[in-house]
Order: sequence, then C-alpha cells, then structure tokens
Amino acid sequence: MNMDLKAYLAERRGLVNRALEAYLPAVRGPAFRVVQAMHYSLFAGGKRLRPILCLAAAEAVGGDPSEVLPVACALEMIHTYSLIHDDLPAMDDDDLRRGQPTCHKKFDEATAILAGDGLLTAAFQIMADAASRFEGRERDLLAVIRLIAAAAGYPGMVGGQMLDLQAEGRKVTLKELETIHRMKTGALLTASVRSGAVMAGGTRAEVTALTSYGEKFGLAFQVTDDLLDVEGEAGEMGKATGMDAQRQKATYPGVLGRQEAKEWAQRLVETAVADLQDFGPVAEPLREVARYLLVRRS
Ligand code: IPE
Ligand code: IPE
Ligand code: MG
Ligand code: MG
Ligand code: MG
Repeated sequence: MNMDLKAYLAERRGLVNRALEAYLPAVRGPAFRVVQAMHYSLFAGGKRLRPILCLAAAEAVGGDPSEVLPVACALEMIHTYSLIHDDLPAMDDDDLRRGQPTCHKKFDEATAILAGDGLLTAAFQIMADAASRFEGRERDLLAVIRLIAAAAGYPGMVGGQMLDLQAEGRKVTLKELETIHRMKTGALLTASVRSGAVMAGGTRAEVTALTSYGEKFGLAFQVTDDLLDVEGEAGEMGKATGMDAQRQKATYPGVLGRQEAKEWAQRLVETAVADLQDFGPVAEPLREVARYLLVRRS
C-alpha cells in the first residue's frame, strides 16, 4: 500500500488537536496564568507523534483509534511538559521551541515549572477520568496508566534526562549513550505504541511485536533528533540547532560520526518495520511513520 503519509499525519493531528482543546480549554479561573502557560506550550505546534503512534497502534490491532484519544492526549501532555522542563535554564537552556519562544521566555521560569507540573498531573487525571469510557476494561486502563507512569518517570524519561545532564562534557561509551536515549526519549515513544495496542484489546503477541517496534522507533527517533541538531534547519525545526555541540551533549553523531549514526538509524527503522511482518495493511501507517524518521526535517 502506498499511503499518503502527509495527509494521514495532518488528519490525525487535527483529531488530536481537537481532543486536546476539549481537555485543556484556555479557561479563565483563579490560576489563569498557569493554565495560559500550559495552553501556550501545548498548542505552540508540534508533530503530535506520540498520540499519533498511540492511535495507529490501536488501529493496527483492529481497534477504533478515536477510542484511545484520552490516552493519546495524556501522552502529548506528558511530552509537552518534558519539553518545557527540558528547555529551562537549569537543563538545556533553550529559547525557541515549536517555532516560538520557550515557555520560560514567554512567561517566566517559575510559571514554566508549574506549567510542566500542571500538564503532567492533568495527563494522569484525564486517564483516570477515562475509566467511565472503558467500563469493564478498567484493568487494561490501569495497566496502561502504570506503564505510562514508568515510562515517564525515573525508570524512563526522568531518569534519562538525569543521565543526559550528567553526561554533559564527558566522553560516554556507545552503551551508555544508548541507555540515555532509550530512557529519555525511547521509553515514552514505546509506551505510546504499547498503550494504544493494550487499550484497543491487542493480543499478547500483538502487544509484544508492537512494543519491540516501539523500542526501535524510539531509539531511532532520538538518533535522528541528534542528527537534525547537526544538519537540520532551525527554521523548519522550530528550535535552535548546534546546541548539543555547544552543551557538549552525548549524541550519536558525536560518538559514531554522522555517517554511522545515519546507518544506525536506518538499521533501526528496518528492524522496526520487520517487527510488523505479521500485521496486514492496518499497520501501514506505523510502517510509514517509521520510514519517515529517516527523511524528516523537523
Ligand atoms: C522533541 O520531540 C524532543 C525529543 C524527544 C527529541 P519532538 O520532535 O516530537 O517534538 P514536537 O512534539 O514535534 O515539538
Ligand atoms: C529531549 O531530548 C528529551 C526529552 C525528554 C524532552 P533533547 O534535549 O535532545 O530534545 P530537544 O532537541 O531539546 O527537542
Ligand atoms: Mg535535553
Ligand atoms: Mg533539549
Ligand atoms: Mg535534541
């Protein structure tokens, strides 16, 4: 099947954005400022890749993608929180994100910290509130909340961000680098795919295959993010380039060189696609999204 990936992504982005808008309206209330900051970063742009993966995984196991929207939106909120905090002066100290001033630049540091906290907690509230929608399926929902918590927390993203900071200015082995990237970025991407499959009632074999796909996809995603920091166009990406070298971050092009890093990303994508061999055309979006990693410019 030769699908139009661009149109598919645009349609899914629209679906996700409408749902996010319903979950986080820019309401005026006593703490309007923090809601405004949360809303600002959530709707600053962004590819919506994690929710799209969640919906596509649901589809791949024969589910209705719109049914998993609460989980998909929660994943995007967690991701957006991670970007807000990642950009803070105490971490990567970036001024531009999603083509706009970073949250702490637009507001202030304290507000950005709180906006991140607000998005993270709202994500878990949305998933807990979704219990009524999944009557009789509460065990699956609980399993998904648990796996997303682990992926976002210290065994995953939070831990990976810690290791990323500790590795600044230091030589790292390839093994260490892979651990950092799997934790800081791979874990949430893997959880996105896995949670979609679980919520849509995938079989154990399907969930296992999709998780394996997600792990390779997640690592490939950060390898290509590192490459884009070296080779990308800041205008297209909506964030500054060359920052990894400036901060002496542990990156794939830094450790392997650009050419080998590209080959590694290619190999990861090939093996991710191979994980989907038992799935039919319903998994085509997942295959295409994986291939897109190798040509993405933002
Ligand atoms: C950027 O993620 C941060 C990383 C984990 C590398 P994305 O490239 O998915 O950012 P948005 O959501 O499109 O802004
Ligand atoms: C971020 O990795 C990973 C997160 C968990 C946010 P980077 O620090 O490389 O992401 P960018 O390049 O700032 O988007
Ligand atoms: Mg970072
Ligand atoms: Mg960063
Ligand atoms: Mg980066």
